[in-house]
Amino acid sequence: MSSLLVQLTQSYGPSGNEEVIRDLIINEIKQFVDELNVDPLGNIIARKKGPGKKLMFAAHMDEIGVIITYIDKKGYLRFSNIGGVSQYSALFQKVRFKNGVIGCIGYEEDIESMKDLKLDKMYIDIGAKDREDAEKIVSIGDAACFEGPFNQQANRISSKALDDRIGCYILIEVIKQLKNSPNDLYFVFTVQEELGLRGARTSAFSVHPDYAVAVDVTATGDTPGAKKMAVKLGKGPAIKVKDNSIIAHPYVRNIMIETAREAGIPYQLEVLEYGGTDSGAIHLTKGGIPSGVLSIATRYLHSPVEMADMDDINNGIKLLRALAVKEMGAEGIS
Ligand code: CO
Ligand code: ZN
Repeated sequence: MSSLLVQLTQSYGPSGNEEVIRDLIINEIKQFVDELNVDPLGNIIARKKGPGKKLMFAAHMDEIGVIITYIDKKGYLRFSNIGGVSQYSALFQKVRFKNGVIGCIGYEEDIESMKDLKLDKMYIDIGAKDREDAEKIVSIGDAACFEGPFNQQANRISSKALDDRIGCYILIEVIKQLKNSPNDLYFVFTVQEELGLRGARTSAFSVHPDYAVAVDVTATGDTPGAKKMAVKLGKGPAIKVKDNSIIAHPYVRNIMIETAREAGIPYQLEVLEYGGTDSGAIHLTKGGIPSGVLSIATRYLHSPVEMADMDDINNGIKLLRALAVKEMGAEGIS
């Protein structure tokens, strides 16, 4: 079991509240990079210098969560979502605030039909006696992440926040493993992806790479009743062709496929009919930045029990590492 992956997934970092996860990542990578900056929005931009083309690899640090909107007289907290929180996966879960306070999510009515479930009928119970008692430990605007322990059985892992600490893990491992690169590499750990790819937009503008690859999770079609989709756990890292935010640039898609084939790394092609990733914002920056996505198949996305396969993750590291040192042909991007 990778203790770094456990630490990353269990760390606290709802969108806009990335301080804890950011410090963890900076500590992991600082001795392996040539430059390290935190930009005004909080993105980590880490560089491994090389003489060649400028490449940007991005993974988002933030995770979905909840934010306190109101504290009632009895000390129960009302909340809103941070990012895509479904009412079905929120009910009767635990949430954790930055100061370690744990809350349990309850419902204000008897549940007659799951169809009627609404987030605004839910409340967080932190065990407070009343409002004054609650206000001693939490405030309006405090954010919490979901609790979801890390487990591994054979090759399969499950945890909260595999989205997108898997991507952070892959970037960190590539940073640690790469000695020299012919390319000028920018590893960006972005903020606020779950709120609309916000950190990716500004960091891509400042880095302005020749091409970019976002590393993120994607949905699968391999569970009972799943929407038809070719992506499966254990079939290799997925090379994105399309999602709702981007059509991967053919150059980037093809260089990823070529790299995987040359290195004998299994891969699968991905078309996701909904959702987006950081590359959705990156490719629309400045005059346009050719962008693609390396995805890791993950079940039960945006729930505290997301599940992925370690072989896919390890092959994702291999693929990104090979891509990082691949020299661009003389014809460049066309
Ligand atoms: Co997500
Ligand atoms: Zn994600």
